[in-house]
Amino acid sequence: MRTPEGTDSGTQLFAHSGTMKKTCCAGGVQTLALLLALCAAARAQCDLEGTWINELNSNMTLSKAEGNGLFSGVYNTRVSLMNTTIITSPLVGYQQSLKEPTIGFTVNWKFSGSITSWVGQCFHTPQGDPFLVTTWLLRSQVGKVEDTWTSTRVGQDVFFRIM
Ligand SMILES: *[C@@H]1O[C@H](CO)[C@@H](O)[C@H](O)[C@H]1NC(C)=O
Ligand SMILES: *[C@@H]1O[C@H](CO)[C@@H](O)[C@H](O)[C@H]1NC(C)=O
Repeated sequence: MRTPEGTDSGTQLFAHSGTMKKTCCAGGVQTLALLLALCAAARAQCDLEGTWINELNSNMTLSKAEGNGLFSGVYNTRVSLMNTTIITSPLVGYQQSLKEPTIGFTVNWKFSGSITSWVGQCFHTPQGDPFLVTTWLLRSQVGKVEDTWTSTRVGQDVFFRIM
């Protein structure tokens, strides 16, 4: 369910993050101005509020997290197992209070009987832009308990904030 492009950009971002960490923490040949810019980006707190898009062009708009880390939002998927009209679906989640927080959220699909939950973490690119690296489980409803073995899919999404 994941495009090769999505996989590549994720890998590349991990590589960039590693470079950024080395530059900031071990010093090196960068100019002082560049060093300060990179370190400022690394220190920035991940802000979930806004609209995010993933490698499948699905998007979600998240509210600002409350003090306890609770947030909500809406999800527009571009992919579906069902041959039905896709309807904007509600989302709720939690984030930890860390600079690059672990997160979890669940979407209650309004066009099917399925539920998807994502867990992941927010990181920053060397430019300071946040992105979410997540793993999801999609649970489809089955008619009887004996069919549970066929009920659950797993995948990965990378989200970038666009607004
Ligand atoms: C989000 O997805 C919906 C449904 O595909 C689309 O209509 C909307 O324009 C998208 N929003 C953004 C900001 O890309
Ligand atoms: C999907 O829905 C469209 C519109 O209702 C219909 O024309 C098409 O045959 C459906 N496809 C399948 C595979 O059911």
